[in-house]
Amino acid sequence: MTQSPRNGTIAGLIIAAVFLAACGSVSWTETSTLSSLPTTAASDGTSPSNSTADVTTTTTTTTTTTTAPQPTNILVIGDFGDGGGNERAVAAAMEDYASMTPIAALVTTGDNLYTDDVAAAWEEPFGWVVAMGIPVYAAWGKHDLESSSRREAVADALDPPGRWYEAQLGEATLIVLDANQVEDPDQLAWLESVLSEPRNGPLIVSFHQPALSCASHGSTGAAISTWAPLFEAHGVDLVLNGHDHDYERFELNGVTYVVTGGGGRTLYEIGTCPSGTLQPLVGDDTHHHFVGLHITADGITVEALAPDGEVIDEFSLPLHP
Ligand SMILES: [Fe+2]
Repeated sequence: MTQSPRNGTIAGLIIAAVFLAACGSVSWTETSTLSSLPTTAASDGTSPSNSTADVTTTTTTTTTTTTAPQPTNILVIGDFGDGGGNERAVAAAMEDYASMTPIAALVTTGDNLYTDDVAAAWEEPFGWVVAMGIPVYAAWGKHDLESSSRREAVADALDPPGRWYEAQLGEATLIVLDANQVEDPDQLAWLESVLSEPRNGPLIVSFHQPALSCASHGSTGAAISTWAPLFEAHGVDLVLNGHDHDYERFELNGVTYVVTGGGGRTLYEIGTCPSGTLQPLVGDDTHHHFVGLHITADGITVEALAPDGEVIDEFSLPLHP
């Protein structure tokens, strides 16, 4: 069978279109020459200008398919590493979540290990994190520092790059602080320096002892007096804390503070906030949970989920102007 040149051109165009479609944009130009077209009068009654000449028609077709930018998905957990059933249930739910949603990082709000048994408290429940190649950005909790052996276990298992550090999470910048030493002058100078750098994307800060909480440990006065004004001045969008084993969400002077300390350890009751202090917008002290962040250049959406999939909280933070 003889394939006509025209059919060959079409086949080539289809192949090119399929290839380019995979790249998100299709653009092609088709030129065809038709000989000795029958002449017709122009609709205005004038004579056709090329009644006997070949007529060349050129058709340019451009189709652009735009794909919405995919968010950077982050998992967050705090106060979890005791090797117990609650930790395992939360870890299993997170693994299910990660099997359906590409995860760029695991962020912790501290108390990563309550035991030196790293196998039971980290490797077994969270082996999928390493298997999936998910980087971990851990904050140092109180229990992570309670002995030299614990400190070494946390360093070996979760490998935080320092006591305070920053990391890039897609469009967002993550700043991890050590709230065991809020007033350390070196840490404060570093925080002021890193917050002063020009940035475009969302700013997320994580540390263990909560700036704001109405549960048993309560708010950390030094974090409110020392760090919160810097967060406000430099447009921090979201602060993630642990230490109190519950879920709480606050908003203070344009900054959203989330306590996510329900990763496995026994839950704490959210009590009555001291008079004159901020009340949580949302509070839950009956579910272990983890948090999912979905980051784009425009902001962050946040969901807090129990192991059975129940949504404890869900909200969006548009990027600070
Ligand atoms: Fe804890």
